[in-house]
This record gives sequence, structure tokens and C-alpha cells, in this order.
Amino acid sequence: MRTIALKEEMYLWAKQVKAADHSIGFVPTMGFLHEGHLALVEEAKRNNDYVIMSIFVNPLQFGQGEDYTTYPRDEKRDKKLAEEAGVDILFMPSVDDMYKHKKSIKLMVTEKTDKLCGATRPGHFDGVVTVLTKLFHLTMPNRAYFGLKDVQQFAIVTALVEEFDFPVEIVPVDTVREPSGLAISSRNVKLTREEKEKAPALFNSLLLGKKLIIEGETDANVIIKTVRHYLDQQLGENVEVDYVEMLTFPYLEDISEVNGKVVIAVAVRFLTARLIDNIIVDC
Ligand code: PAJ
Repeated sequence: MRTIALKEEMYLWAKQVKAADHSIGFVPTMGFLHEGHLALVEEAKRNNDYVIMSIFVNPLQFGQGEDYTTYPRDEKRDKKLAEEAGVDILFMPSVDDMYKHKKSIKLMVTEKTDKLCGATRPGHFDGVVTVLTKLFHLTMPNRAYFGLKDVQQFAIVTALVEEFDFPVEIVPVDTVREPSGLAISSRNVKLTREEKEKAPALFNSLLLGKKLIIEGETDANVIIKTVRHYLDQQLGENVEVDYVEMLTFPYLEDISEVNGKVVIAVAVRFLTARLIDNIIVDC
């Protein structure tokens, strides 16, 4: 595995590989790698000649008071895990190199941001599409891999490449979970032992919602209320339920009646970390 730090070097490598008619699979991450990230690499390796992983904690997508400075980082461990997973190029640019130019143009997501995480994280997805635009240009991927755990991010990135004609296919990958059902996340390390014991309630609440749908419930409000009630009961004090929402998948449109593919999504604020999860139900 080769580690590249400079944008120029990354671009030259990708250009050469493309000129030789080889394909590139790209896995963008913010590091502190776990099985979720590695599942994306595994998928990328299946269908591409080369796999590039980027590790870049992108300051633009963190709001004021969010955890940019305390976001978990472990470069040495990440390099080892990426190499073992079969990554060919690990791209680890610095903030200075990535954002060295004066900011005179702003990318802004104008739809799908009034719901789910967009509602409480203003500007977050603007930061995500900005960094991905740059990373797509630098790595020139044929395919880029995104986890469905961040379902809103997947929907917005799909819109980005469709609307701006990026020649890249966005490939969704299922959420990887711990045996308890807890969706694996870099932020899980922040949880106290007590919080970690409570955290599987997120996935269990989603399974409850799915069960209601399978049993014939079609009223979105009833499903949302039941899921929220379950979460409130299971999580108790000191944990705030940010949202429980049900939307169409993949377009994330509001619904009052279940019909077709839907996603039930939850976000929960523990004292130490904010966790998200979702389930897609096809009915
Ligand atoms: P990060 O949170 O590091 O996630 C990188 C990728 O891993 C995302 O596509 C995310 O959905 C996926 N992922 C995270 N946990 C997963 C799990 N348990 N199962 C499957 N996939 C999982 O998402 C970001 O970084 C950033 O916003 C980024 C896209 C890199 C832009 O800065």
C-alpha cells in the first residue's frame, strides 16, 4: 500500500491509472477505521482494479460546537487496517493542502436538508458535497462506495453526481453491526459502558417499526410514535431522541402512508456522542 499526502501526487497517480484503462474504486472516510469502512473496501475490491481510500477529517462538515477537534483519530492503526484490507492507495491530505485556496465559491445542498440530520446540522451536507467534489476530482474513481448507515449522505451524494454529471457510480453498502445490533461507528468509542449497553435500543426500535409494517400497519404517524415511545422507554434519562422519521427511499420524501420502499431513521443524543441508525423496508 502506498500512502499519498499531496493532492498533486494523488491526481497524477489516478490520471496514469485511468490512462492505462484501469478502474478505480474509491472509499472516502474520516478514519478511525472499523468493520463498516472495511466492508466498503471489500466491496470496492470486488469490482475495480485499484482501490483508493481517503482519510480526511473534513472541518467543513462540522458545525460550531460539534466534535471536530475531539473526533477520534489513530493514523498508525488506520494504516495497518487499510493495508490488511487490501487498499492500494491511502490518500491522507492535510487540511492546509485541501483548502489552500481562498473560498470564493460555495456548494450548497438545497433539498433533502430540512429532514433527518440536515435539520439539526445546518451546513453539514454543504461541507460533505464540497469535500467529495474535490476528492472525486483528485481520485477519478469509476465507482465510489458509501454506507447506508448514513442514508441521507447516500441520497445527497447520489443527487450530487446526477446533477453535476460526475462520471462516477455511487454504490451503496449495507450497515455493518455489532452482534448486539448496534451499528458500528467511529463515535461508539466515546460511549460510556452504561450508554453502550443502552445503544442497541436504536436498532431494536427500528426492528419494531419494521415489524409493524410487515404486520400491515400503514400509518406513518403510528409507526413513528411507537418507535419513539420504545426509544424513550429504553433510553431513559440523559438521552435525547433527536428524531424518528419515516421517508421514501432513496428520494427521502415525506410520507403519511407506507407504500413501496421506505426508510425509518433515528438519531439519539447520548451525553458523550450522537448516534444515528436506520432501516430500509420494502413493502
Ligand atoms: P465516515 O463517517 O468515516 O464514514 C465513511 C463511510 O463509511 C461512509 O460512507 C459511511 O456511511 C460508511 N460507514 C460508517 N459506518 C458504517 C457501518 N457501520 N456500516 C457500513 N458503512 C459504514 O461519512 C463520512 O465519513 C464523511 O462524511 C465522508 C463521506 C468521508 C466525507 O467527509
